[in-house]
Amino acid sequence: MPPARQRVVVRAPGKINLSLGVGAVDDRGYHALATVFQAVDLYETITATRADGMSLEVSSQVPGTVPLDESNLALRAAELLRTECDLRDGAALHIRKQVPIAGGMGGGSADAAATLVALDRLWGLGLGGERLRQLGSRLGADVPFAMLGHTALGRGNGADLTTVLTHGEWTWLLAVPGGHLSTPAVFRRFDEIAAGGGRTPATRPTVDERQLQALSGGNIDLLAETLHNDLQAAAFALHPGLEPVVEAAEQLGAPAALVSGSGPTIAVLVEDEMQASSIAAGLMSESLVESCLVARGSAPGASVLEEE
Ligand code: C5P
Repeated sequence: MPPARQRVVVRAPGKINLSLGVGAVDDRGYHALATVFQAVDLYETITATRADGMSLEVSSQVPGTVPLDESNLALRAAELLRTECDLRDGAALHIRKQVPIAGGMGGGSADAAATLVALDRLWGLGLGGERLRQLGSRLGADVPFAMLGHTALGRGNGADLTTVLTHGEWTWLLAVPGGHLSTPAVFRRFDEIAAGGGRTPATRPTVDERQLQALSGGNIDLLAETLHNDLQAAAFALHPGLEPVVEAAEQLGAPAALVSGSGPTIAVLVEDEMQASSIAAGLMSESLVESCLVARGSAPGASVLEEE
């Protein structure tokens, strides 16, 4: 068994879905996905300190509120570990948030991923990456990716991952409009739109191979052409403020823009930080968004920053 620690600091990244192909619902109520995730350098940083019971504090650099009760994914991750390993150990958890809250960028999943890695070290459990990823997938479909990071193809409900080769760095403007979207509601609207159009969703959705070529070749034009989100129409229908942001970003010169995951954050692919600033200024001056962040991908998965 590895030694237990007094204090461990771990960070895990937020993500964008560069492709999100959605298929039929399985018997657990999850939709089959074929998705390309890219981790970006906005991080959730968790500090876990030994304590008698469990507690949670959050400090945030982004607007919005996070639940502090047992519905919080970090606390659920801690509870899962305690149950699985039959432990009574406690920890004081502190989360520093940089990923937009409830924005479709996997911030809650990053909290769960970082908590699992931190408590595995704090409590000296030695579970290892594979077992932690399996536990993570029980907390949410995006949790295993927050552990792995970089760029990866996700299949099944999104938790079955294969790393994708990328060349160079990609710059994203993340445009955060007001309002929230519930992930289950967006998936439900997707089903209604598919049923209304008489379409049967694929049992095994696929990603456009040209997107993988764009990533490995560092080809921004091809990446722009292949950015795709099957949930976008559903997100547009539930939040009328989103489509104007995508249109305005492209009119302002962005190679492409799309809804990130189930939204409402809009991921705008840009050539460089200068273009990001000018598009952000345009979107803000038209009052289309509440805030804008610049991020780079890809970024590493959950990693230990400090331990003592
Ligand atoms: O996995 P996560 O907890 O983030 O998912 C939230 C909800 O989104 C699920 O309960 C389900 O309603 C929907 N979902 C889905 N298919 C997926 C992922 C999520 O239907 N592959």
